[in-house]
Amino acid sequence: MGELANSEGLRRIRYSTSAKGLTPRELFGFFEGWPNPPSPATHLQLLESSAEIVLAVDEEARRVVGFITAISDGVLSAYIPLLEVVPECRGRGIGSELVRRMIALLEDFYMVDLLCDAELQGFYESLGITPATGMMLRRYEHQAGIAAEAQPGPQRPAAT
Ligand SMILES: CC(C)(COP(=O)(O)OP(=O)(O)OC[C@H]1O[C@@H](n2cnc3c(N)ncnc32)[C@H](O)[C@@H]1OP(=O)(O)O)[C@@H](O)C(=O)NCCC(=O)NCCS
Repeated sequence: MGELANSEGLRRIRYSTSAKGLTPRELFGFFEGWPNPPSPATHLQLLESSAEIVLAVDEEARRVVGFITAISDGVLSAYIPLLEVVPECRGRGIGSELVRRMIALLEDFYMVDLLCDAELQGFYESLGITPATGMMLRRYEHQAGIAAEAQPGPQRPAAT
């Protein structure tokens, strides 16, 4: 448990390693600044599909306020693709706690990698993660997620 200060005092933050029982309604306010973000339903799907997750849950507000995911080959390597704390809850140690808990979950793996912007390197270094050179490929037309694209819906044009 952690605590989250607000105008009414301190609210409890519960850390969970499972998406069991979670609904899309508890997942809002994430993917800040993404032009084409995953929907809450797609967000839930990627949490359910990840090898490991840690969620920071504000029980009183009945919402997830932070999450981190890892994908893995189950033998040597794990990759941390996503970490986010909702903007109104940042700067209170939740992001650091999510990383610490994920590193602990992945303690048996030889390689634990992630990519981040240069200004976040200090944040990760303070948690024991070393700067490295990386490479990446991004397909922004798929930013909302393959699962979201596969779902038929009235707004999607029929395939030709
Ligand atoms: C990065 C992020 C998860 C940190 O969450 P948080 O709950 O605010 O983190 P903490 O409160 O544990 O902050 C720990 C330290 O990192 C610093 N820090 C946090 N975000 C930072 C940022 N974007 N740039 C530089 N420093 C940052 C904080 O100042 C704090 O330092 P301090 O202890 O000396 O004050 C959050 O800012 C976020 O969700 N950002 C948008 C998504 C993102 O960039 N994710 C990372 C993808 S690699």
